[in-house]
Amino acid sequence: MLPLLVLVASATALVAADPTPIVLWHGMGDTCCSVGSMGSLMNSIKKEIPGVYMYSVELGSNTLQDREKGFLANMNDEIEGICKKIAADPKLAGGFNAIGLSQGGQFLRAVAQRCPNPPMKNLVTLGGQHQGVYGFPHCAGDTPLCDEIRSLLDEGAYIDWIQNTIVQAQYFHDSDDEELYRTKSIFIAEINNELKQNDAYKENLSKLEQLILVKFTEDSMIVPRDSSWFGFYAEKDIDTIVPFNETKLYTEDRIGLRTLDQSGRLQFYTMEGDHLQIDMKVFNQILDKYFK
Ligand SMILES: *[C@@H]1O[C@H](CO)[C@@H](O)[C@H](O)[C@H]1NC(C)=O
Ligand SMILES: *[C@@H]1O[C@H](CO)[C@@H](O)[C@H](O)[C@H]1NC(C)=O
Repeated sequence: MLPLLVLVASATALVAADPTPIVLWHGMGDTCCSVGSMGSLMNSIKKEIPGVYMYSVELGSNTLQDREKGFLANMNDEIEGICKKIAADPKLAGGFNAIGLSQGGQFLRAVAQRCPNPPMKNLVTLGGQHQGVYGFPHCAGDTPLCDEIRSLLDEGAYIDWIQNTIVQAQYFHDSDDEELYRTKSIFIAEINNELKQNDAYKENLSKLEQLILVKFTEDSMIVPRDSSWFGFYAEKDIDTIVPFNETKLYTEDRIGLRTLDQSGRLQFYTMEGDHLQIDMKVFNQILDKYFK
C-alpha cells in the first residue's frame, strides 16, 4: 500500500503546483485574441506566469461576431452561454482567476454572482463600469455602428427593445431617474440588486478571495470614471460623486461588497492615464500578489 500512497501524494503535489488558470473578457470593440490588445496582454501574462492556461472569452463563433456582440446582444444570454463554456472546460474545473477589461469587468462579475461553479478565485477589473455609465462610451475610431448606438441611447436606453438589444444600454445608469433605471435596466441594476434583493448574488460574490478594482485616473470613456470603483453620481446631481462606501449598495451590503471590504478582500488600484492604458508595472504587481 505504501508506494501507492506516495504516488498519490506526489501527484497531488504536482497538480497543486500548476498555476491557477485565467479567464479573460475583452472590452467593447475588441475581440478575444486580437494581436494588438488581448493577444499581447496574454503574451505578457505568460511571461509572468509560465505555463498558465488561459481562456479568453469569445462571443459568438468568430471574430466578426465577437466584435459585434460587444455592441449588439442580450448580455444576460451571452453570460449564460459563457458560464456553460467555462463549466465545460476541464482545465477550469478546479477554479480560476479572472481579468475583465472595461465592460468585460462587469460581465465577469456577473459570472461570479450567477455561476459560482467552477469557482472564480480572484477577479481583477480594469476600467470596469460596476455602477454603469451615464452616457455612451466613445469608441476608438468612431465606427458608424458606434454612432448609431449613440443615437439609439439618446432616443431612450430604457425602451424595451433597445434595452434588450444594445449592450451599452444594459449598463446605462440614468442618475436623473433612478426609479426608471431600477425598474428597466435588465443587466447592471439587476446584478447590483437594485430592484429586488437576490441573496444568492451576495453569497456568491462574497466567495471571491479578492476583488481587485482598477480605475484609470484620466479615463475619458467611462462617465463617471468612479464607476470602476463602484462610485457613482448622486441622484439628480451630476456634480457630486458618491464614493463606493457611501452608496446603498455598500452600506446595505446588497451584493457582498461590504463583506469583502471588511474582511480585507476588496482592493483598489489606480493606473495613470486614459481608459485601458494599462500600466504593466502595476498590472504585474497585481499578478504577483494575487495570481501566483
Ligand atoms: C449562487 O450560487 C449557487 C451555488 O452556490 C447557485 O446554485 C445559484 O444559482 C447562484 N445564484 C444565482 C442567483 O445564480
Ligand atoms: C470610505 O473609504 C475611504 C477610502 O478607503 C475612507 O477613507 C473613508 O473613511 C470611507 N468612508 C466611510 C464612510 O467609511
